[in-house]
Formats: sequence, C-alpha cells, structure tokens
Amino acid sequence: MDKRRFYDWLSRYYGIVGLFDDCYKRKALEFFDLKRGMRFLDVGCGAGFVLRQVKRRYQSVLVFGVDSSCKMAACARKDVLGGVSCGDCFCLPFRDGSFDVLFCSFVFDIFDFSEQKKVLSEFSRVLVPGGRLIFVNNVRGTGVFFWLSGFYVILARIFPKVLLNKPIDASFVVEMSGFAIKKRKVAGFTEILVCEKIWMSI
Ligand SMILES: C[S@@+](CC[C@H](N)C(=O)[O-])C[C@H]1O[C@@H](n2cnc3c(N)ncnc32)[C@H](O)[C@@H]1O
Repeated sequence: MDKRRFYDWLSRYYGIVGLFDDCYKRKALEFFDLKRGMRFLDVGCGAGFVLRQVKRRYQSVLVFGVDSSCKMAACARKDVLGGVSCGDCFCLPFRDGSFDVLFCSFVFDIFDFSEQKKVLSEFSRVLVPGGRLIFVNNVRGTGVFFWLSGFYVILARIFPKVLLNKPIDASFVVEMSGFAIKKRKVAGFTEILVCEKIWMSI
C-alpha cells in the first residue's frame, strides 16, 4: 500500500489516532500570536484538528489546509468549510507569498533529508518574507524517551509501511533552508519548532 492509500484508509480512524498527540499541536498553537486577517496554512492537515482549533480561537484568521490524502482533506473540509484542498507539499497549489503562517505537524518527519530540503523550499516559496513556520515533529528526546524512541526506530524498520513518522533532528535542514529558529521545545518524543523565514531558499 502506498503512503496516500494508507492515509486514505487511516482517515476513518484519525479522530482516535490523533488523540495521542493533539496536546502537542494545541501547545504549538500557544507559541505564537495570530493577528487579524493573517493567512494560516496547515500542510498535511490530516482530519483538520489544528484548522478547527485555529478557527475557534481566531475567527478573523483566514484558515487553509492541504493534504495529499483526498479522504483526509475531505474530513477536514467538513468543519472548516472550503479552504481545504487535496494537494502535495512538494508542489503546493498556492501562489508565492500567500501565507503569513505555515503549520506542519507530524508530516515533515515522514521525509528523508533530500525530500525535507525540497519541502522547505516549497514552504519558503508560499510564505511571505518574515513569515512563520511551525513544526511539530517526532524526535529522539532525552533520558528514558531516548531509549524508548530507539525501540520505536527498530519497530519502524520492521513495519515501514505503517510507522511512517521517524524521530528526526530538523534544526540543521531548517537553518540551511533560510529559516531562523526562534523557539524550540522538546516534550517526550515531540519537538515544537517556531521558525522565521529570513531568506528565500532555492
Ligand atoms: C501523521 S498524519 C498528521 C496529520 C496532522 N498534521 C496531524 O498532526 O494530526 C500525516 C499527514 O500528512 C499527509 N501527507 C503525507 N505526505 C504528504 C505530502 N507529500 N503532501 C501533503 N500531505 C502529506 C498525510 O496524508 C497525513 O494526513
């Protein structure tokens, strides 16, 4: 089963699966202030948890989502009304400089290093200069989490078609792609990164 079909299938159960990490996405949303009229894009929006949160908290923010699984996008679209499209983060269906904030949770850690560079260049393209990029990614963590995530890495090697997200260290590729890291918080297996676009990556 390819990734897209897997996520199409998972869309039926994503309300339950998402419960495990919704708290990190909620926390990430507390890390920055969304102002009136800002344009917010959630890339790999899944079933739309973050889009709903943003819509509830900031009625005046323009909320958009995109996901390569059309079934996930359809779930998100139910509550977010329009603004959610089916599309790939390697080739986002938006014009240059369309967004002030780009949010991306548990998607970037699916990709390998060369894919991450391409994705970041696309994120940079659709963000305005000075725009914010918020990541929520899996990381190795410290202490007991370091060892447990090592166990997860082994499981992910055994079940690569199901355990797609891997612990990553995104800082290096993010900084070499024209973003400055403004805040970083690690909790357990999860990292929240708040970045600012400082130059256009190519
Ligand atoms: C683990 S889920 C995370 C969903 C959501 N961001 C969340 O935190 O609940 C990964 C999501 O990324 C989407 N995805 C995977 N590859 C993608 C790509 N190349 N472009 C856009 N979305 C992608 C999947 O369809 C899936 O909905």
